[in-house]
Amino acid sequence: MRRIAVLASGGGSNLQALLDAQEGGIFDGRIVRVFSNVPGAGALARAEKHGSPTACIASKGYSGSRELYDAEILGILEGDAVDLVCLAGYMRILTPVLVRRFRDRMLNIHPALLPKFGGAGFHGRRVHEAVLEAGEKESGATVHFVDEGTDTGPILLQERVPVMPGDTPETLAARVLETEHRIYPQALRLVCADRVRIVDGKVVITPEV
Ligand code: GRF
Repeated sequence: MRRIAVLASGGGSNLQALLDAQEGGIFDGRIVRVFSNVPGAGALARAEKHGSPTACIASKGYSGSRELYDAEILGILEGDAVDLVCLAGYMRILTPVLVRRFRDRMLNIHPALLPKFGGAGFHGRRVHEAVLEAGEKESGATVHFVDEGTDTGPILLQERVPVMPGDTPETLAARVLETEHRIYPQALRLVCADRVRIVDGKVVITPEV
């Protein structure tokens, strides 16, 4: 049984999908900590309601370096003997302090079909705006491993979502979010079942036996 930490900054609907999937036995793991950099984040309230332990260090006004901040998170996660980290709307770029420690053991979900519409500046509403501005016919959601780049790690799961005529960033975001809520638990199911390896920077999924 994997010991999972979820890092979230916002409303936490993806966290909710993971909590629900845990309840439903979709993956063989337990969310042992929910961490946020934003006091009062909806994600923390969802975790508390579910009885999952939480922790929060406000990043706003934090006086130390980013590395020190990540070292504090690392201390919490090591104290919980976490072996898998899920970023779920965590709005800070991580330093190598965390990324190296959880290499091949940290997942992120991104609301587009990476490698398109990923990287610096592509977060939140901006992703969907850019998809619409580019006149794309489809977008999607991507679960990927986290490496030292931004949205560049090996892709584990990806699902397409159509762009509809008259879509706004909000309507597209809502449609993509439904897909996110479906594929993130599936990705965890694969990882927790030991069916995922990274070979030469690419994800290899072992077929179900
Ligand atoms: C999601 O669209 C996720 O892909 C992105 O941030 C959003 C978080 O939403 N990284 P929520 O907090 O899970 O509702």
